[in-house]
Amino acid sequence: MTQFERVADGIRQDIEQGILHVGDLLASERKTAERYSVSRSTVRRAWQKLQALGYVHWTTLSAPTVVNIPLRPHDVSPSAMGKDMGEVPRSSFLSDLMSAAGSAARYNFEIGMPDPDLLPLRELQEVVRDLFSQHVREVFSYSPTQGIARVRQALSEEYLLRRGVDADPDDILITSGSLQGLDYVTDLLAGPGDVIVTEAPTFAGALQVFSSHGAQVLALPMDGEGIALAPLEHALTHSRVRMIYLQTFFQNPTSAVMSLARRHAVLALCKKFEVPIVEDDAYGFLAVKDTQPLRALDPGGHHVIYLNTLSKLLAPGLRVGLVVAPRDVVHYLSLRKQIGDLHTGTVTQLLVEGWLRSGNVTQHIARAQSVYSGRLRTASELVRSHGLRVHGSPTSGFYLFVHLPSRINAYALHEYAANREVLFAPGAAFGIGDTYGDWIRICVSALSTTAIHNGLARLFRMLDSFVP
Ligand SMILES: Cc1ncc(COP(=O)(O)O)c(C=O)c1O
Repeated sequence: MTQFERVADGIRQDIEQGILHVGDLLASERKTAERYSVSRSTVRRAWQKLQALGYVHWTTLSAPTVVNIPLRPHDVSPSAMGKDMGEVPRSSFLSDLMSAAGSAARYNFEIGMPDPDLLPLRELQEVVRDLFSQHVREVFSYSPTQGIARVRQALSEEYLLRRGVDADPDDILITSGSLQGLDYVTDLLAGPGDVIVTEAPTFAGALQVFSSHGAQVLALPMDGEGIALAPLEHALTHSRVRMIYLQTFFQNPTSAVMSLARRHAVLALCKKFEVPIVEDDAYGFLAVKDTQPLRALDPGGHHVIYLNTLSKLLAPGLRVGLVVAPRDVVHYLSLRKQIGDLHTGTVTQLLVEGWLRSGNVTQHIARAQSVYSGRLRTASELVRSHGLRVHGSPTSGFYLFVHLPSRINAYALHEYAANREVLFAPGAAFGIGDTYGDWIRICVSALSTTAIHNGLARLFRMLDSFVP
């Protein structure tokens, strides 16, 4: 290990062991040089390395600030086959979540998915019957990387227009879930050490994507209207921000909605500083008033790359998501996707098209809006009446972000509760470092009102008796 690597490693350990926290300034160049008995230029090289790894943000005007605790892969002993595998993470938030999807736990508040009981089965069965009898050759063929043209047309006319997004089918890329879209967009906009602004807290999957690109995340606080403007303007003025990742409607994990006035103000700031917004509208279909996402308020689409998915409205197993972006960006993303998985599954794309054209969409959305807002209200009242604090004042959405009493560690409680048939997502995954270590995300979308009552009652009993 060279001198500067030794210094970087020492600081990294201080960050990972919680001696230094997100937001802390590192010790000055002089003090660090003394502590490690190295020259000041060695300290600067160490800081550069920590910046590239995404741990700190350094403007060279002062000592670096800790901004992130990137996902650090666990050591694995390489098998004979994978000698050059290097370090591969053993587990991650997303892999834990995917395991929760298949869990038989009675009260699964962990996985963020629509209620399978709401699936429009009759319509889907008709579409499947038609596809497998009339279009069997096409169904089992390869298809274009950008997405099948008539599926993009259906997405434009029957899905995006409902969100006020007027997108030419040529400006749409169909992805294998919107997380894939976010991965490719991040690949285009940000590299190691680059700054990405997000809301705090934010979608854990997005943080995992940003971390995998070595980007630094500046997670900014929200007020009652959405991401707070003053910290956003400060960040845009003082850091070289490469993209702003926002969820304007029913944000994961808080179900917060950005007010219309705030949407306009955020758009104005991003135009002023010429920083692209990546808008993730996974839950936008739940909006009943002031429904326009940022992309609809930026009709030329010059400032907003827009992501959406059928995972929350219809079914996550379809793996159909989409990106709306200027044509040259769509072209770049398509090239990237070509290397990734060639194209999104032909069968699921055609299934989605058939359903979008079935005449069932309006009714399905209305039902989802009514059922999910009812469930969220029920859960919110129960949680508050038990004296627990909920983040914000959500009116609909899949999630409640809940503060645990007496700083109970959410991971410890998670294990305890999982053994007693109650699952939820620990809050730490939705922030940087341990900011939300005593928060949990409760997803209520896939449980009936009775199950919400019974499951939360069981969770509250555990909270009362839990000894950390
Ligand atoms: C905000 C947000 N974006 C994207 C996704 C991922 O969706 P997909 O299944 O389309 O990859 C999720 C899933 O939880 C989400 O909450």
